[in-house]
Amino acid sequence: MAEKYLTIALAKGRLAELSVEIFMKLGYDCAEMLTKTRKLIFTDEAREVRFLLVKAGDVPTYVEYGAADVGIVGRDTILEEGRNLYEMLDLGFGKCRMCVCGSEEMREKLSSTSGLRVASKYPEIARDYFISKKNINVEIIKLNGSVELAPITGLSEVIVDIVESGKTLEENGLTVLEEVCPLSARLIVNRVSAKMESARIKSLVSEIRKTVEEMSE
Ligand code: PRP
Repeated sequence: MAEKYLTIALAKGRLAELSVEIFMKLGYDCAEMLTKTRKLIFTDEAREVRFLLVKAGDVPTYVEYGAADVGIVGRDTILEEGRNLYEMLDLGFGKCRMCVCGSEEMREKLSSTSGLRVASKYPEIARDYFISKKNINVEIIKLNGSVELAPITGLSEVIVDIVESGKTLEENGLTVLEEVCPLSARLIVNRVSAKMESARIKSLVSEIRKTVEEMSE
């Protein structure tokens, strides 16, 4: 992949906005990404870098196949997708937690009830947590959003979902029952690019690391 451009896939939405802020601080020409454009690809000719705006769940796919050399995406997506790539850097923003949530009364029943129904946008993370780690047999129900509705409507007993401020849970009468893992944005790298573009990627990682540290001071 000895190409002229280094290609960086960003997860559309808040993570992309935060990532663009970092790249702008580093002097990259990418401010257009923050405008209301429908463009999905942006090029900084001077730096020979190309940015792709990709659905979060697709960032690891682009990186694994080498369509992007580098990606910035949440750890939740990396765990769920289970792709073959290097996770190089914890960017320290987009911090939240993956949790098992439900009504308070489920707290005691959680470890003792077999065949619990667990709704989640993250079926692999939910499966890994309950079946592999806790050795509890559960039925996983895949949803695409508004997961908090599942225990309220009786679709499932609990959910596995992202908790950031906790507001969505609170406003829907649910609570955190167990924490699965902490989450934050990560920088991921294609395995071949890590070798072939080693110098460029190392210098990119070190300038991003420095900027992220300065921003959190
Ligand atoms: C996420 C997540 C929770 C909520 C947590 O949903 O799935 O529902 O944010 O944030 P909070 O703890 O700060 O309230 P998102 O906003 O992505 O919408 P979705 O449920 O439609 O996927």
